[in-house]
Amino acid sequence: MWQAGPVQAAQAEVLVRFSHVVAQDTPKGQMASRFKKLVEQRSGGRIRVEVYPDSQLYGDDDEMEALQLGAVEMLAPSLSKFGTVGVSEFEVFDLPFLFHDLEQVRCVTRGPIGRQLLQRLLRQQMVGLGFLDNGFKQMSAGKPIQNVQDFKGLRIRIQASRVLTAQMRSLGAHPVVLPFDETQRALATGVVDGAENPLSNFLTQGLASVQRSVTLTSHGYLGYAVVSNPRFWASLDETDRGILTSALNDALEEGNRLSAQMNQQALATLRESSGVRVHALSSAQRDAMRRAVQPVYDSFQRRVGANLLSQVQRDCL
Ligand code: LMR
Repeated sequence: MWQAGPVQAAQAEVLVRFSHVVAQDTPKGQMASRFKKLVEQRSGGRIRVEVYPDSQLYGDDDEMEALQLGAVEMLAPSLSKFGTVGVSEFEVFDLPFLFHDLEQVRCVTRGPIGRQLLQRLLRQQMVGLGFLDNGFKQMSAGKPIQNVQDFKGLRIRIQASRVLTAQMRSLGAHPVVLPFDETQRALATGVVDGAENPLSNFLTQGLASVQRSVTLTSHGYLGYAVVSNPRFWASLDETDRGILTSALNDALEEGNRLSAQMNQQALATLRESSGVRVHALSSAQRDAMRRAVQPVYDSFQRRVGANLLSQVQRDCL
């Protein structure tokens, strides 16, 4: 029986440029590499995927525009960043202390609410293809952040999200929006004092060398939506669209399996490192933070409407 071999593999007919902002050794980086491998295998090399990690090609500031203009074919921005291009519904994922665990998040992303959210992206010139977890964010700074008072006056780097801005203000901190790839330098030079990250991002961005303290607040979720350019997606024939879709679904499944593991591994590494101290929260400290961020819910409901939040609360929490 004839099989696709290396000669055919040389003749790429379709090119997918997949740009992202994190290191390869993160849930998103691993998912993108897996996607590349599966697509190239399943198409016998007819479809080539070039992955550009670490903001090499585009960073937070310009990647969405690059996708809309067709300069890249695929991205996986964090859900927080879709608010900046007019899809404020995605800010629901930023609400502090909304989700207790990944199962609750997955109930949203894998069910009817997730499908509606992906559909919603079409109005902003993006085809929404699926969701990927990173995990829960932990606070870092030069000191432990266990009480609401510990936030007072700190300048904290956040992603561009109105919910995250409101979250930091309600805790008494000054939110500073910075692209991901500028965070390490901003912390090193004292432009900001702290940050909120899943530990896999904290570790792979070298933040352990510039922050002495990590507090396990798990106060918010960080995940991604994989998106493509609609003109590119429509230009594919059914076979190629099928290959990309099935490869992505398999890569997302693997990425979602890896995400909790990679954050656990990062925690173990940090606990062993001499430069960073890891602190926990008592349930009273967590409750006090949860109470302090309540105003964020009111402003989100006013802006986005109460329906989406009640649907999430009713069906998944
Ligand atoms: C951030 O900017 O902190 C994250 O969105 C980076 C990422 O893509 O995980």
